[in-house]
Amino acid sequence: MSIEVVHHPLVKHILTRLRDLTTEPAQFRALARQLTLLLAVEATRDLPLREQQVQTPLELAQGYALAQPIVAVPILRAGLGMLEAITELFTEVRVGYIGLERDEATAVARAYYCKLPPIGDSRVLLLDPMLATGGSAAQAIEVLLRAGARDIVHICVVAAPEGVRLLNERFPQVRIVAASLDRGLNDRKFILPGLGDFGDRLYGTGTH
Ligand code: PRP
Ligand code: URA
Repeated sequence: MSIEVVHHPLVKHILTRLRDLTTEPAQFRALARQLTLLLAVEATRDLPLREQQVQTPLELAQGYALAQPIVAVPILRAGLGMLEAITELFTEVRVGYIGLERDEATAVARAYYCKLPPIGDSRVLLLDPMLATGGSAAQAIEVLLRAGARDIVHICVVAAPEGVRLLNERFPQVRIVAASLDRGLNDRKFILPGLGDFGDRLYGTGTH
């Protein structure tokens, strides 16, 4: 199975607080943002650079600039909880949106929105915190490939082996960066131990 799990102690610390059912939405949103910052560093550690000189207050120094544009694509709605971290790190990022919602009975995702910027040679950061069956991510990747994306990294918080296997089989070129590879799915296709419904926890829309 091909997945890059980030083993930084801070990642484990923040993820544990996200899993905690007593974490309220405001805190959950802050933690999701912090965790995404750490995951984004891993997802972009291989970005190309070009050399660029910079004038310091003392003298001319050799510096660098990122040489590949970034496109971020959150899957609505839970992926929105990861977006602010990316726009903060990559100020020139262009952002696309893909709206997908799982049917509660079948767990099959239905597409309801799509708006993408030009992609070209950009590194596409696909943002969706939960990789469960992989159905939503697979639909989003199909859309991105049709739009011309050639360099896609899927950043998620928690991944299930079922979803990772599906993406590895169908899109071996897509990297997956996650905070955790969890045990598996329950009969409602929720991740175990997971952290529940990420969108509900982010926006306080859950019933309990
Ligand atoms: C969740 C999650 C993923 C999807 C993962 O979204 O944010 O998009 O489920 O499940 P999958 O791998 O089995 O497709 P959901 O459909 O609940 O929508 P929401 O983000 O609007 O709450
Ligand atoms: N979507 C979620 O928000 N949580 C899961 O465990 C699975 C899908």
